[in-house]
Amino acid sequence: MKRIVLLPGDGIGPEVTREAASCLAMISDSYGLGFTFESHDFGGVAIDRHGTPLPDATLAACKAADAVLLGAVGGPRWDQAAERPEKGLLALRAELGLFANLRPTRVLSGLEHLSPLRKQYVTGADVLVVRELTGGSYFGEKKLDADHGSDLCTYSRTEVERIAHVAFRTARARKGRVTSVDKANVLSSSKLWRRVVEEVATDYPDVALDHLYVDAAAMALIMAPRRFDVILTENMFGDILSDELSALVGSIGLLPSASTGAGGPGLFEPIHGSAPDLAGLDAANPAGAIASAVMLLQAGLGLREAATMLGDALEATLKSGCWTADLGGSATCSEFGEKVREELAYRLTGRDAHLELIAMNRGCCG
Ligand code: NAD
Ligand code: IPM
Ligand code: MN
Repeated sequence: MKRIVLLPGDGIGPEVTREAASCLAMISDSYGLGFTFESHDFGGVAIDRHGTPLPDATLAACKAADAVLLGAVGGPRWDQAAERPEKGLLALRAELGLFANLRPTRVLSGLEHLSPLRKQYVTGADVLVVRELTGGSYFGEKKLDADHGSDLCTYSRTEVERIAHVAFRTARARKGRVTSVDKANVLSSSKLWRRVVEEVATDYPDVALDHLYVDAAAMALIMAPRRFDVILTENMFGDILSDELSALVGSIGLLPSASTGAGGPGLFEPIHGSAPDLAGLDAANPAGAIASAVMLLQAGLGLREAATMLGDALEATLKSGCWTADLGGSATCSEFGEKVREELAYRLTGRDAHLELIAMNRGCCG
């Protein structure tokens, strides 16, 4: 039995989480894994119901879970709130000790045209951002009054060491290249970052390391994305560069993430936000949430075969031309999810079940 906590959150969060959770339920049934799903209030919806974005009951459920699947939090409704929904997300990451946030971007062959960039630039791009998630200016001392605001950007040796080890270990299983991104020509926190990353690198002589300043990295990601394998960077730079990377594949709605750290349950969430402009319209792209469910199976629960099944079903759906509006298609969020589950059924139980499911489905995307 595996206890999966769902935090649908705000805006499009509930819509994309529903599609991803349905895929996980199908995997659980097929493999007899006995997943249990429980939804908890988190973010803006929790502020409305409990006066806080991370209620104690939600945090306790997450701590007791085997894995947590999150939609998104935030929205204009809470932008002026004393305690914003986003604060709950930062608190959850800190409480679960999730210092390592893995954000993969891969341009699928045959789908290069979904990118706003020319095919020659994006073909074959496959980049993993390893973002430090519980330090830097997000968590440093904060001051705000009518005339001044400040956010202290601070990193300790230990914080840099542990995230660097994650990046080097991950690179070993990929193309063996780490690019550390910092602003060491200006920031002291980056000077320490670079020094410590160099030291950790001596443990990994088989992994190639180079360094880029973040401004140059932002340019190179567009001009020469294939030069990158693993990008190792601090919290804020990782946040910004991962949204930039979504342009390579054509939509932020495609990108997943996995947050791990202290050895407890991992947190899996698409990198996008609550997209208030799409909320309630059944128009959001759930691919990033479904890809996060793939990471939950693989990295969170160690279910490699099940993860491959769902990942393949998602890729086949995208390659079939079933696209939501952000990619120029006409599929709704739920139609896209149905198509993924149809592809999944095909893989799980063979062609007969596939045909049966097609008959049951609305046949949205063929
Ligand atoms: P956003 O990611 O919500 O939206 C940016 C743009 O991308 C919008 O045009 C939106 O329509 C589009 N988009 C995002 N996800 C999409 C999807 N799945 N399918 C199709 N299009 C999609 O970023 P924002 O507008 O800057 O932020 C909105 C709110 O979300 C803010 O309150 C912000 O703080 C919050 N936020 C939360 C998270 C999170 O929960 N992890 C992440 C980012 C932003
Ligand atoms: C993300 C988001 C969050 C972040 C916000 C909502 C706190 O942008 O998960 O990428 O900056 O980490
Ligand atoms: Mn972000």
